[in-house]
Amino acid sequence: GRVAVVMGGSSAEREVSLDSGRNVLAALKARGVDAHAIDGIPALLDALRAGHFARVFNILHGQHGGGEDGVLQGALESLNVPYTGSGVLGSALSMDKTRSKRVWQSLGLPTPKFVPLPRGTDVHAAAKEIGFPLIVKPASEGSSVGVTRVFEEKDLDAAVALAEKYPGDLLMETLIEGDELTVGILGRQVLPSIHIVPKGAFYDYNAKYVAEDTQYICPGLQGDAEPSLRALSLEAFDALGCYGWGRVDVMRDRQGRNWLLEVNTAPGMTSHSLVPKAAAVAGIDYQQLCWRVLETSFR
Ligand code: DAL
Ligand code: MG
Repeated sequence: GRVAVVMGGSSAEREVSLDSGRNVLAALKARGVDAHAIDGIPALLDALRAGHFARVFNILHGQHGGGEDGVLQGALESLNVPYTGSGVLGSALSMDKTRSKRVWQSLGLPTPKFVPLPRGTDVHAAAKEIGFPLIVKPASEGSSVGVTRVFEEKDLDAAVALAEKYPGDLLMETLIEGDELTVGILGRQVLPSIHIVPKGAFYDYNAKYVAEDTQYICPGLQGDAEPSLRALSLEAFDALGCYGWGRVDVMRDRQGRNWLLEVNTAPGMTSHSLVPKAAAVAGIDYQQLCWRVLETSFR
């Protein structure tokens, strides 16, 4: 049947999603899939009620109309329409970094020390608990929007003010200094890790989507370290009730310890994105990758 590739939407990651979506759409069409672009959740629900589509490839990113936070998944469950990726629980939990971390902590999985910052929290007291350097982020955004690394107390208020521009609560975490790693998951296949080496201070929005000088090393680790990172990532993914596909972001400190940051349940599929790079190293080209993701809706 016809496949709706839902992209865009109204989150802070709208532009990233449109970029991902256009690439996915072209790849599915090239594979002979009868796929069509739909912008955002309201248009998708209208088209589904009109009977236009048999299944949904969800490449929306982010919360609040972003389609990555469980809301869309619940609507699709209600309509009994199959869709790619995680269900309501895994999507909602992964969108909330604070609650993801609580689940991992309860299982003894490593995640940086943190203080949740509901609006109105005394952020300076929270910073004393964490210590510098620390990182301030919106608890439920993606693509590093609103994220600031803070090395000195004088820069704390500006970091909080920036994160507060986005909806929802904030989160303060110990800044792990070391290597940024990410692990893609496709069905039950764990892809080779990628070690991301941004030219600037960290892998921010610019390094993710604009800069051409970010380096990607894949597989990211050598020897036993690589399978142990992959196993940890799959454990973290399963712990949040995720399935289908996704990407687990991890920091590796200078002592070689891995720290879980978050899970993305509809990871980027742009030409700069990570899952396509890891898949390519595993021998899965972009078209095959899109097909494999589509297959996660066959359940
Ligand atoms: N949130 C962006 C799209 C990613 O994780 O790739
Ligand atoms: Mg994310």
